[in-house]
Amino acid sequence: MKIKYNASKIKQSETSDKLKKVSRNIRNRRSVFANEFIKKEIPDKLLEEILINATWAPNHKMTEPWRFIVFKGKYLKEYGEYMAKYYTNFYSELSPEDQKEKLRYLANYPLNAACLIGVIMVRNTKINLPEWEEIAAVSSAVQNIALTCTAHKIGNYWSTKGVAIDYVAQFDLAENEKSLGLLYLGYHPEDLKSSKKKRTHLSKKVIYLE
Ligand SMILES: Cc1cc2nc3c(=O)[nH]c(=O)nc-3n(C[C@H](O)[C@H](O)[C@H](O)COP(=O)(O)O)c2cc1C
Repeated sequence: MKIKYNASKIKQSETSDKLKKVSRNIRNRRSVFANEFIKKEIPDKLLEEILINATWAPNHKMTEPWRFIVFKGKYLKEYGEYMAKYYTNFYSELSPEDQKEKLRYLANYPLNAACLIGVIMVRNTKINLPEWEEIAAVSSAVQNIALTCTAHKIGNYWSTKGVAIDYVAQFDLAENEKSLGLLYLGYHPEDLKSSKKKRTHLSKKVIYLE
């Protein structure tokens, strides 16, 4: 169906001082990668709050199609070693020295995080929802984690590379479960330079039909 709309109707405020707390938190949420993290534990109570908020995500027919594995301590080391092994052949065109350096970087990378959270989608076996609805619900849970972290000045990002998916998949997943990768969580310096990534103007993303 061909539709007519008026793009000039859409104005986008850039005046961040006028943003309310919730908007500021949403717009301040940025992926912060583990090489920016500092050595600081996330208190257990706070981690619990982050995970509880995850479970308050909207979900169709209350299937609550998520499950999480918190990886800490020796598992960070284990994942680093897993990554280095996973990528052993990936850098074969580099000199042995450079290859060694890349693999060392990968092995140490997860050690920067306070914890990793494995994200698992749990398909409901009785209520047959389309998979995309379950993924959408899990993604909402992940966003709740990200926003709670931002409010507490905890950096975080979602890693969905094959290595992250495959690592989580090893932890006794049932037939109706699927690994959706890993979240990295960790504190960062207060003065961390904010990401330069911009968002496309609303006029290119929204139309109003009245
Ligand atoms: C479903 C999903 C998967 C992602 N997977 C990765 C990933 O594997 N590696 C990565 O570096 N970033 C990943 N990201 C983070 C994106 O790179 C990041 O959100 C995007 O660049 C926008 O930046 P911002 O989060 O700072 O706004 C993922 C984000 C989403 C929503």
